[in-house]
Amino acid sequence: MSDSNWNKSSWQNFTALQQPNWPDPNEYRRVLAEISSLPPLVFAGEIRTLKKQLAMVAEGEAFLLQGGDCAEEFAMCNAPTIREMLKVILQMAVIISYGGGKPVVKVGRIAGQYAKPRSSDTEMVNGVEMPSYRGDMVNRIESSPEARRPDPKRMLEGYFRACSTMNIVRAFTRGGFASLDRVHAWNNEFVKKSPQGQSYEKLAGNIDQALKFMALIGIDTEIPQIKQAAFFTSHEALLLGYEEALTREDSTSGGDWYDCSGHMLWIGDRTRQPDGAHIEFLRGVKNPIGMKVGPKHDIDELKKIINMLNPENEAGRLTLITRFGADKIENHLPGLCREMKKEGFKLVWSCDPMHGNTYTTASGYKTRNFDNILKEIQAFFQIHWDVGTVPGGVHFELTGENVTECTGGGRDIKDDQLVKNYLTNCDPRLNAEQSLELAFQIAEMVR
Ligand code: PEP
Ligand code: CO
Repeated sequence: MSDSNWNKSSWQNFTALQQPNWPDPNEYRRVLAEISSLPPLVFAGEIRTLKKQLAMVAEGEAFLLQGGDCAEEFAMCNAPTIREMLKVILQMAVIISYGGGKPVVKVGRIAGQYAKPRSSDTEMVNGVEMPSYRGDMVNRIESSPEARRPDPKRMLEGYFRACSTMNIVRAFTRGGFASLDRVHAWNNEFVKKSPQGQSYEKLAGNIDQALKFMALIGIDTEIPQIKQAAFFTSHEALLLGYEEALTREDSTSGGDWYDCSGHMLWIGDRTRQPDGAHIEFLRGVKNPIGMKVGPKHDIDELKKIINMLNPENEAGRLTLITRFGADKIENHLPGLCREMKKEGFKLVWSCDPMHGNTYTTASGYKTRNFDNILKEIQAFFQIHWDVGTVPGGVHFELTGENVTECTGGGRDIKDDQLVKNYLTNCDPRLNAEQSLELAFQIAEMVR
């Protein structure tokens, strides 16, 4: 049962950081009332399934792969973009599960990752002060005060685009596209020729052979474990009005509340104050919750938050997503793991090697270097092994498109080559080839 002091609106009595200044409060309320009346995006039963799988991750019996855009864009809500994203995540999952010998729980940053925290409310563009871009669900990226005006109708549009994304994701994952006998078809034409693409082809060939052999000796391969992929959605639960509007009481479990905007929700590094509105809201919904933890955390504060979010110490409820940076992880993670282990907290530990490794090139591109990303992941595994906690998963910003946003990797993208195909509206993403390269490295570590 839910805490009697909690309800889906109780966050409104707390300070909510990172909320847009909606210019028209009436319009804001009208839009949220409409979203409240619309169907949920996901079903509580699916959320419980994910939580069970994350409980296995906490025990080291499965591995969590979470990834997608830093910020989804309305304009990129189309079948080819979603398909390419899904393909690269399916490929990574098959590489890690086949090579690492563990089932992989697949969670996209998808179907709702439309709102972003920003370091400042406003920014100066060509001498004009305007509101910062806060994601497509809030305002438009174009550099004009008009485009940047927060518009609540964009939340409604975000809801419908998330529905549309969810629908095609369900179709791709259940309708045959994600079937293991199509493992070759997930390899992207561009990537195929690269060493990573070649290694992937080899692995796909092995899976093919195994499936053919199973069929040959009479094992039924027409089963959901082969024909379908379980794929879950997630986003940062940032805009609390939107999250509240999609929070529904589950009739099948008798009074539990679920935030049905996505399966898993996370709290950003900037909004996890123990007395803040985001923690208040998320403590009352039964979804699996992720919490980002950066170098500025305080261990006692984290313990307090963990007790608030997971008072019953339920495995699968809480994932700590650490994002320290390759140069800081050694200073922070060992002590954190030891303290959490001492408390007996049941946690999924996941490594976000992206957000602590961002830098800006001389020409002004925000980027991340492949070697730093890999270094942080390697240190993450080694530290958990040393302390005796479980390195449970990884959290990436990636895309299936052939972008040049992160430096390094097999093609050794240099700072001055970022200009070629730098498409992100927000943080730099790994391209498909860089993503596969990391998956092969991770498979070794998981094994
Ligand atoms: C993000 O995941 O895009 C993000 C903003 O992360 P963090 O809260 O860790 O900075
Ligand atoms: Co980001």
